[in-house]
Amino acid sequence: MDLQLRNKVALISGGSKGIGFSTAKAFAKEGCNLGICSRNETEIRDAKEELEELGVRVMAVQADVCQPESAKTFVEQSAKEFGRIDFLVNNVGGGIGGSTVVSTSDDDWISTFELNLFQVIRLIRLVVPYVSSSKGGAIVNVSSISGWLPQLSGSPQYGAAKAALIFLTERIALELVGHNIRVNTVSPSSIQNTRGWDQFKHQNPESFASYVKNGFPMGRLGYPEEIADVIVYLCSQRANWINGRHIPVDGLEQPIAVAERRPW
Ligand SMILES: NC(=O)c1ccc[n+]([C@@H]2O[C@H](COP(=O)([O-])OP(=O)(O)OC[C@H]3O[C@@H](n4cnc5c(N)ncnc54)[C@H](OP(=O)(O)O)[C@@H]3O)[C@@H](O)[C@H]2O)c1
Repeated sequence: MDLQLRNKVALISGGSKGIGFSTAKAFAKEGCNLGICSRNETEIRDAKEELEELGVRVMAVQADVCQPESAKTFVEQSAKEFGRIDFLVNNVGGGIGGSTVVSTSDDDWISTFELNLFQVIRLIRLVVPYVSSSKGGAIVNVSSISGWLPQLSGSPQYGAAKAALIFLTERIALELVGHNIRVNTVSPSSIQNTRGWDQFKHQNPESFASYVKNGFPMGRLGYPEEIADVIVYLCSQRANWINGRHIPVDGLEQPIAVAERRPW
């Protein structure tokens, strides 16, 4: 299937590793030029070099998307380099702080909402004028299974922020119809070769094995590439009739029985 992405431009927040880097690679394999960012300068430079080997142009910016000026620099430098932006993938996100409502602080909630929601809204505001003047395109937000399937594992502030992102997706999609920009969300389940799950696997192999056995009918965690392919498809014109939707990409991950996860 030709996704017709050659010479288009995709911006991916957090493209140096994990799902973001796999998404950048999947776009590059389709001939799509890239703007990527991350806080670690060496890692974003290494990512740029690897992606350029696939024959596309890459603008790599050391930026923290939670800092408004830094996010602005990322978008403006990418737009200046390419003269257009067609797609935005809001990939940056994660959980910060305590794991139960009663043990969390206000700061845990504020910083988690900043990381998973507020910076996404700012990036969308920054990017819409460019996408709009490129005759339209697409935005894909990366939420999580935690945003629609409440479980005791994972932190409540992370799930709530990801749920808000899912809610907002349809709302923004309705607003942007007139700009010819589609907005969708993918919700991955637990994905291997990403920072969090790699740490869990190495630090506690026995509980990791039990987690996989009990929670995953398909016998494994997902791969970043399996999320990346869906994101790239959603950006392409082939997905023109999918708008404002939330797409779980979760290999049928199951909530683990409460008794096995009880934190007391
Ligand atoms: N992994 C999973 O199992 C899973 C499951 C469901 C949903 N998700 C969601 O998928 C997305 C990606 O997760 P991941 O596991 O692939 O993450 P990851 O492996 O930790 O990679 C995160 C990427 O984002 C960058 N980043 C983080 N904070 C940033 C910031 N403030 N500004 C700019 N760049 C930043 C990181 O580079 P620096 O650290 O150098 O900045 C890195 O490039 C997140 O939204 C996450 O919530 C992940």
